[in-house]
Amino acid sequence: AEKKIGILVGSLRKESFSKKTAHFLIKNAPAGYQLELIEIGQLPIYNQDFDEEGSPAEYKPFRDKIKTLDAVIFITPEYNRSVPGVLKNALDVASRPYGESSWDGKPALVVSTSISNISGFGANHHLRQSLVFLNMPTLQQPEVYIANIQNLFDDNGKLTNAESAKFLNDVLAAFLAFADKF
Ligand code: FNR
Repeated sequence: AEKKIGILVGSLRKESFSKKTAHFLIKNAPAGYQLELIEIGQLPIYNQDFDEEGSPAEYKPFRDKIKTLDAVIFITPEYNRSVPGVLKNALDVASRPYGESSWDGKPALVVSTSISNISGFGANHHLRQSLVFLNMPTLQQPEVYIANIQNLFDDNGKLTNAESAKFLNDVLAAFLAFADKF
């Protein structure tokens, strides 16, 4: 059967470069793997009271969806040197109720993006910190930091930078081989 790989993007922006990167990977997925964008912008801000009093309707389908995945790819910009709140919220939502985390054991890839040279290092490593606790085995090498990402796409959102396209395809192959081991 096809393996299911979810992609979570840490930006809700229509013209998000991180989202364009996700679409590049989806288009370039090798046979046998189904890559799918998982929406997170609809999730209300997590409140621990929900675990006792009932959760917003959006939570269950999201948690169930994550549970069906064989692996997870995170593609995120950096906001104020850390993970954007919308992505952290999604991590928190599917980590609960306590003992029922949807993330447990799922292999993960972290891709950070930035319009500057520093390439989202802070977000990349803050995200890795959460993935340690969530027990998600995470690809260590190659690390994926995409700097000056605004220069990689054409006006139609197509990734036209050949070097970056090759790098991302190599990363995807390395990650899928890694994920297959779990
Ligand atoms: C940013 N940006 C940014 N960039 C960066 O490299 N480090 C940072 O700490 C921040 N901080 C930050 C905070 C906030 C609130 C915003 C809105 C933006 C700039 C960021 O890299 C740029 O907006 C990207 O285009 C966002 O990614 P998407 O939406 O294109 O995927």
